[in-house]
Amino acid sequence: MASSGAEFVVIANRLPVDRDVLADGTVAWRKSPGGLVTALEPVMKSQGGAWIGWHGAPDETLEPFDDDGLHLVPVPLSSQEVEEYYEGFSNATLWPLYHDVVAPPAFRREWWDSYVAVNRRFAERAAEEAAQGAVVWVQDYQLQLVPTMLRELRPDLRIGFFLHIPFPPTELFQQLPWRRQILEGLLGADLVGFQLPGAAQNFVRLVRQRVGHKTHRDMVYLPDGRGVLAKAYPISIDAQGFEDLARSERVTRRAAEIRASLGNPRKVLLGIDRLDYTKGLRQRIRAFGELVRDGSVDLDDAVFVQVATPSRERVDQYRILRDDIDRLVGRINGDVGKIGQQPVQYLHASYPREEMAALYRAADVMVVTPLRDGMNLVAKEYVACRYDDQGALVLSEFAGAAAELKQAYLVNPYDINGTKAALLQAMEAGERENGKRMKAMRKHVMEHDIERWARTFLQELSEVGSHDKNPRPASVS
Ligand code: G6P
Repeated sequence: MASSGAEFVVIANRLPVDRDVLADGTVAWRKSPGGLVTALEPVMKSQGGAWIGWHGAPDETLEPFDDDGLHLVPVPLSSQEVEEYYEGFSNATLWPLYHDVVAPPAFRREWWDSYVAVNRRFAERAAEEAAQGAVVWVQDYQLQLVPTMLRELRPDLRIGFFLHIPFPPTELFQQLPWRRQILEGLLGADLVGFQLPGAAQNFVRLVRQRVGHKTHRDMVYLPDGRGVLAKAYPISIDAQGFEDLARSERVTRRAAEIRASLGNPRKVLLGIDRLDYTKGLRQRIRAFGELVRDGSVDLDDAVFVQVATPSRERVDQYRILRDDIDRLVGRINGDVGKIGQQPVQYLHASYPREEMAALYRAADVMVVTPLRDGMNLVAKEYVACRYDDQGALVLSEFAGAAAELKQAYLVNPYDINGTKAALLQAMEAGERENGKRMKAMRKHVMEHDIERWARTFLQELSEVGSHDKNPRPASVS
């Protein structure tokens, strides 16, 4: 056990940096653009924090290093573990299961064994890094066993867990052959955070039914006297950072350039997603294709730009999806396009934040229609970038963001006709209507930013567990 060590430790599957190999062969680490590191950086720097995570390459052991004031602790994964723990159990079992089984989850016992072994490695690494009584914050579905494994090694720690993706309805979760172990793994935390209150309720209900612990509202009471709080903390973005970027001259210029290169159409529609089967890309592109085909949308008038960021390319379902989308876009452009005019501009690439901000500013209609999504930060980024109170957001009811962005054009992404109607409505709405909606959404996003999210979670983590604050009601025996 470390007596000196980090007072604040973040554990995530990935480190918040990407490796660049420069022309002369030297290695440089670049901060990845995620909001999480932006939010936690000040806390990490002021408290001598450490971030424990995989650096993204297999079969390579790296020593801990400091980068731009952050202490980074790489956790190695072998090729086999990448296949079984990351691509397998995390992304072909848990990911589809937790997203409404929109693709069939695969249950393989050897993947589970690898998940257990890798979770243990993360927990052991954290146990070595954390100072006496430190706060440890475990992130996401890849590491659900870490809280209990870590508590067993270091009962002195205060442990928080946050699930970035949905937590499934109890009926679906029950399919998991290792359901009890996952629930028990999470119960090692003092505070288990979710995106939505419904997810926290699913969890508490499962704990009562499957593990048999007493529960009352959002509290679980363990036999050893410890209490675990399960509650929603909807994640957000660095809203001011996005607005500042959107206001910058470079982004303003680039946004105009983008519109010009699309032929200055009356309406630019935009989708930006990881290429993932949960994102509803098939349904969305089909809906827009039908609008062009049936003449509701004129080719001279509108273009749909879809950016799909490469993701998890070695997992079967992602390969299948990539081929499907290639074919679908090809068919629509082939059927209804004209020379120099393609209704769907499809880009399989990832772009820096600045280019994203320019795309957001160039887009009249942002289309975010996942079949299921924990939150969806793209929706919030779009809103933050529209400081002009213009633009329209078409948003799936099944994205966590819909609970907050109520003034969006909300759709059921499975309903193609409904989606077509919402796209048309968003395209045709006047400036006044869109202005009213955007203003209300902007107020919410600018006030509820990632800094507030992290502060609230960490504040409540510091309070929970002190039993006087969460006494077990007399009625819960
Ligand atoms: C989602 C998950 C994250 C994950 C990210 C990218 O947002 O909640 O935990 O890091 O997708 O996926 P990847 O598999 O590339 O880490």
